[in-house]
Order: sequence, then C-alpha cells, then structure tokens
Amino acid sequence: MAQAPGPDGHGFVAWIEGIPGSGKSTLSRLVSQKLKAQGFRVEVLDGDEVRAMFSPELGYTRKDREFHARRVSYVARMLARNGVAVVVAMITPYETSRQAARAVASDHFSEVWLNCPVDVCRARDAKGLYKRAGEGSIKKFTGVDDPFEEPLNPDLVVDTANGAAEAGAEQILAHLRSRGFLRDSAA
Ligand SMILES: Nc1ncnc2c1ncn2[C@@H]1O[C@H](COP(=O)(O)OP(=O)(O)O)[C@@H](O)[C@H]1O
Ligand SMILES: [Mg+2]
Repeated sequence: MAQAPGPDGHGFVAWIEGIPGSGKSTLSRLVSQKLKAQGFRVEVLDGDEVRAMFSPELGYTRKDREFHARRVSYVARMLARNGVAVVVAMITPYETSRQAARAVASDHFSEVWLNCPVDVCRARDAKGLYKRAGEGSIKKFTGVDDPFEEPLNPDLVVDTANGAAEAGAEQILAHLRSRGFLRDSAA
C-alpha cells in the first residue's frame, strides 16, 4: 500500500551535505531505496548529475555554487509540496546556501551533515577526484583548494568516517521519522 509522505500529505526535503567522498551519493541512494520499499514517492537530486542539467553554465565560484544551490532548493520545494520525498545530495559548502534552502522549504526541511575528515575522504577517493585535484587538474575542489564551512545548524550529523553506510542510512531514516516526515511507524 502506498504511503502518504507525511501527516499533511506534504513531502519533505532531506538535504544531505558534506565534502566530496563523505558518502552523499551512497547514503542518498540507500535512503531512497528504503523509502521506496516502504511505498514513498522519492526523487534524488544528486549534485553530480543535477548540475549538468540545471546549471551547465555555472562554475565553482562562491557565487555560482550559491546560485546552483538556490535552483536545486526551489525544485526540491516544488516536488516536496506535491508529496514527494526529496533527497538532495550536494556538497553545499556555504552556510548561506543551507540557510536559503531551509527558508525555501520551511517546515519540511532537514539538513543532514555527513561529517567525515578530509583525510579519510582523500584516502577513499571513490572517484579519483582528490588525486586529480592534488595534481592541479581540477581547480576549486572542496577540501583541497576550496572551502567547506562547518555547518552551524544541521538537524542531524552522521559520522561517515566510521561504521557502515547502511547504519548511516538507518540513522537518517530514524531522524526523518522523528521529525514526523514519515507517516506512522511503518517507515
Ligand atoms: N559510513 C559510510 N557512509 C557512507 N559512505 C561510506 C561509509 N563508509 C565507507 N563509505 C564509502 O565512501 C565512499 C563515498 O563516496 P560517495 O558516496 O560517492 O561520496 P560523495 O557523493 O559524498 O562524494 C563510497 O565508496 C562508500 O562506499
Ligand atoms: Mg556524490
């Protein structure tokens, strides 16, 4: 049986942020699978893919990153208000962008910071990007030569340096449930 996303039929935005390699794509996939298995309508807006479609003209300056985040937050809100569970996976290096996204989605927003030290992410280097950034073939790479402001006001912090991805996904699910975004205890 299909689940209503929340008590008011409204969806929500789970905004998953963190430096490259912190597990955003991995955890958003797992969370999405779990929500779908429970009957929710889910969309994942993953920075890597969304950027190519939404913002091909933008680069990686602060202004461009903020502009891109605003576009994504606006689409996320439109989906959420139509009952979709939206999982955003974006580095979101600036606090201004996080606050703007929160303001756009208002009550139906949760900011999830995947906290993983840059040394751990570099050692994993799931896509070989830290290596390329270290060699200088990628510029303005977050954690190497571009900043990541420590989140001031996350709703949930997941330690992704330790433990399995599966446990992190369950932590996010439990948090969304505690926020009242998932109807009853079925989720
Ligand atoms: N606890 C964990 N949570 C998330 N990812 C983890 C964890 N432990 C190890 N990993 C691994 O770290 C890598 C994270 O890569 P990815 O999800 O692409 O990160 P991002 O999308 O943030 O750049 C994956 O290879 C994943 O399997
Ligand atoms: Mg990713």
